[in-house]
Amino acid sequence: MRAFVLSSYGAVADCVRLAELPDPVASTGQVVVEIHAASLNPIDYKLIRGDLKRISKYRLPHPIGFDASGVILSVGLGATRFAPGDAVFLRTSRERIGTFAEQIAIDERLVAARPASISHLEAASLPLVGLTTLQGFARAGAKAGQRILIHAGSGGVGTFAIQYAKHLGLEVSTTTSAKNADFVRSLGADRVIAYDREDYLAQGGGYDIVYDTLGGKFTVDAFKVVKRGGTVISLSGPPDRDFARREDSSLMVRIAVWLMGRKVYAAADQAGASYCWYFTEPSGDQLREIAGLVDAGAIVPVIDRAFDFEQLPQALAHLEAGHARGKVVLKVR
Ligand SMILES: NC(=O)c1ccc[n+]([C@@H]2O[C@H](COP(=O)([O-])OP(=O)(O)OC[C@H]3O[C@@H](n4cnc5c(N)ncnc54)[C@H](OP(=O)(O)O)[C@@H]3O)[C@@H](O)[C@H]2O)c1
Repeated sequence: MRAFVLSSYGAVADCVRLAELPDPVASTGQVVVEIHAASLNPIDYKLIRGDLKRISKYRLPHPIGFDASGVILSVGLGATRFAPGDAVFLRTSRERIGTFAEQIAIDERLVAARPASISHLEAASLPLVGLTTLQGFARAGAKAGQRILIHAGSGGVGTFAIQYAKHLGLEVSTTTSAKNADFVRSLGADRVIAYDREDYLAQGGGYDIVYDTLGGKFTVDAFKVVKRGGTVISLSGPPDRDFARREDSSLMVRIAVWLMGRKVYAAADQAGASYCWYFTEPSGDQLREIAGLVDAGAIVPVIDRAFDFEQLPQALAHLEAGHARGKVVLKVR
């Protein structure tokens, strides 16, 4: 089969190449999926650049890509949930990535039936951003009536998060640029703060939850607008202090994590709010929940642009530019 592999860490254009690999075989508990579509996430270019080397190390060359939609080709011993021909979508584990490929072998517990109402391209756009949002909102205890600020509402995560927050009954404020204001309103945002026209910090606070997709200064500043007792859930800030324990990290990593989080924890203490950072975990059960939301019309996939399989490097460069409106997807078949 053909698969894109990471051959060294560095610039996307230099480090990703198309290779011919042996077709995968399903081990015990696994299924082999013929991939029809995949989607890109910022973690793909971060991983290629080597930003995550300390957390996830791969023996190179290594296949890449987390999200896919496709059809079951074969099932391994003890795998009972699917049969050849079933349409499915999936997010790989961090250890066994490789969806920018024609096939993948994967633990059947990380796979779910594709939502019946949408295409493979649309289904491939959902797993990582959907799981991220379900898991983040659960950690924050998000519930109806709360006020949430979602940064970058027009991005891959944001477009899912706005819809999911409205489904749960939260009041949604979101940041994006002025050109995307009507677009995020169409997804359900109650209030849009255009970052190129106004300063969100001057627009009042009192949020129960701030969903920080941007990191850097945005993580510390989130504590200026979150209310006392509220939660900042961050995807891009420094790891929270529980992270090293959850990952079973070495003493060196624990110390590094503690130091990286100093400013954020000082801001959290001052605001009387909590800080939570996490790595999204794969889950077939939660993908089933997402499929249900899609089939019920609560979540509509948002595709920014679809690229041909061979154009993965161009697709990664497009995403890395930082202005995708929804998800960037890859037509594998
Ligand atoms: N920890 C985890 O497990 C986890 C999971 C998922 C994602 N993440 C991280 O979360 C981040 C967001 O992911 P994503 O998929 O949503 O990225 P994305 O799709 O690339 O985000 C692009 C969007 O960000 C908007 N944006 C850029 N600068 C902005 C600003 N200053 N204020 C408001 N909006 C801004 C852009 O809108 P304009 O075009 O209008 O500028 C664009 O629509 C990434 O860093 C990713 O790595 C982490």
